Amino acid sequence: MSERFLVAGGARLDGEVHVAGAKNSVLKLMAAALLAEGTTTITNCPEILDVPLMAEVLRGLGCEVEVGGDLGVPPGDRPAGAPSELPAGTVRISVPTRLSSSADFAAVGKLRASVCVLGPLMGRCRSARVALPGGDAIGSRPLDMHQAGLRALGADMSIEHGAVVGSAQTLTGAHIVLEFPSVGATENIMMAAVLANGRTVIDNAAREPEIADLADMLVQMGARVEGGGTSTLTIDGVPELHPTEHRTVGDRMVAGTWAYAAAITRGTVTVRGVQPHLLSSPLERLAGAGASVTAEGGADIRDGAAGESFTVEMTGRPRGVDFITLPYPGFPTDLQPMAFALAAVAEGSSFVTENVFEARFRFVEELIRMGADVRTDGHFAAIQGREQLSSAPVWASDIRAGAGLVLAGLAADGQTEVNEVWHIDRGYPHFVEDLVALGAKVERVG
Ligand code: EPU
Repeated sequence: MSERFLVAGGARLDGEVHVAGAKNSVLKLMAAALLAEGTTTITNCPEILDVPLMAEVLRGLGCEVEVGGDLGVPPGDRPAGAPSELPAGTVRISVPTRLSSSADFAAVGKLRASVCVLGPLMGRCRSARVALPGGDAIGSRPLDMHQAGLRALGADMSIEHGAVVGSAQTLTGAHIVLEFPSVGATENIMMAAVLANGRTVIDNAAREPEIADLADMLVQMGARVEGGGTSTLTIDGVPELHPTEHRTVGDRMVAGTWAYAAAITRGTVTVRGVQPHLLSSPLERLAGAGASVTAEGGADIRDGAAGESFTVEMTGRPRGVDFITLPYPGFPTDLQPMAFALAAVAEGSSFVTENVFEARFRFVEELIRMGADVRTDGHFAAIQGREQLSSAPVWASDIRAGAGLVLAGLAADGQTEVNEVWHIDRGYPHFVEDLVALGAKVERVG
C-alpha cells in the first residue's frame, strides 16, 4: 500500500515556514541548461522527486547531472545517480558537445513536465523525439500550440508512435500569436527561438513568474530575450549560449498553500522565500475572506520591492469569496483546491470558476466525502460553507488536489486519511515536517 498522511483536524497553525524554489521553474531551468555546452549550476532547487526525475531525463540525453542533498524520498524510490557532495538544493548539469535528441518513455513517463526538453533540443540539435506521458488527472493537456509555434520557426512537427517528433534544417524567427497564453508552449518556443536565426516575437505569451525566471536565466546564458513576464516576448537568436549559475525563483504555489492553510486553521503563519506580489490575486482573495495579509515591514503586498516574506493571520471564521482561475496574474488554477478547502468551511457561499484545466474538479468528489456542500456544473462550482468538515479516507489524484485535501483535513473533526500522497511529495518538499513545525498533528504512514 502506498504511503498516506493521517491529518488530525482542529490544530491552529502558528509560526514561520520557509519556501524553496518553484517546481514549475526548476524543471524548465534544468531543461534550459541543454542549450549550452558546459556546466550549468542551479540553486534554490526544491527537494522533491521531480528534480531527480528530470535529472534522469537529462542523463538520457547524454548529460552528467549531480543533485545535491536529501531528496526527501525513501532511498529505494530514489532514481539512479551517485550520492552527491553538492549542498542540498543545488543541481549541477554538465552538457556534452553532442546531445542525444531522443527522450524515451522510460525516462519521461514519470514526469509530464519533461516535455519542456522539446524546445531546447530543437534549438540545439534541430531535431527532437520526446515520448509523451500518459493521461493526466487534471485534463487532456495537448501540445498543439507547442507544435504550431515550432512549425512557425520552420520545423516539421508530428506526433508519432507516442512521441512528439520534430526536425528542421534551420530555425528562422517568426511572429507567433498564441491562441491561449500556455505556459509550456511559451517556454518551448522561447527555448527554441534563442538559437534560431533572426527575431521571434511571441504575442499573448504566458506571463507567469516562472517564465520571467527562465527568461532571466537565458539572458545570463547570452540569449537576447526581452519582455519575460509580459505578454510580448521578443527574442533575437544568437549562434550559441554559454553555461551559467542561476537561483530558482521561490515557489508561489507552495507559499500560497501555506497562506490558505493559515486561514483555514484560523492561525498565523509567516511565509518566507517568495515575494508576496507574485501571489497578489490569491492573497487579495484571502483578505476578502477576512484574513489580515501583511508584507515585510508593512509594505503593500502588490509592491514588487516588498521583500520575500509575508504573514497571513485569520481570527474567526473565514467568509465565503468567489474564485475565478485564469492565467497569471489571475487566480492560479494550482491553488484552486486550496480555495475550495477554504470555501468549504467559510461562512456563506462561494462560487468557483475553473478556466484552465477541464478536469480539475475531479477532486471535489473527495471533498464531498468529507461533508463539503458542493455542486458542480461544467467548470462552475457552488459551495455552501459548513462550520466543520467530517474526517474521511480520501485519495489524492494530483499534487494540488492532494495538498487541498490535507488542508481540508486540518479543518475536519477527527482524523482524515489522505491516500496516494506520492502526488503531494512531487510538489511539496518536507510537507509533513513543516506542518508539524507549525503545530499541526500530521503523520506519514505506510
Ligand atoms: N493547452 C492546449 N494546447 C497546448 C498547450 C496547452 O490546449 O498546446 C491547454 C492545456 O490543456 C490547458 C491550458 O492550455 O487546458 C493551459 O496549459 P499550460 O500549457 O498553460 O500549462 P502547462 O504548461 O501544461 C503549467 C504547470 C501547471 C500549471 C499550468 C497553468 C508545469 C510543469 N506545469 O502546465 O502546474 O497548472 O502551467 O499555470 O509548469 C502543477 O504544478 O500542479 C501543475 C499542474
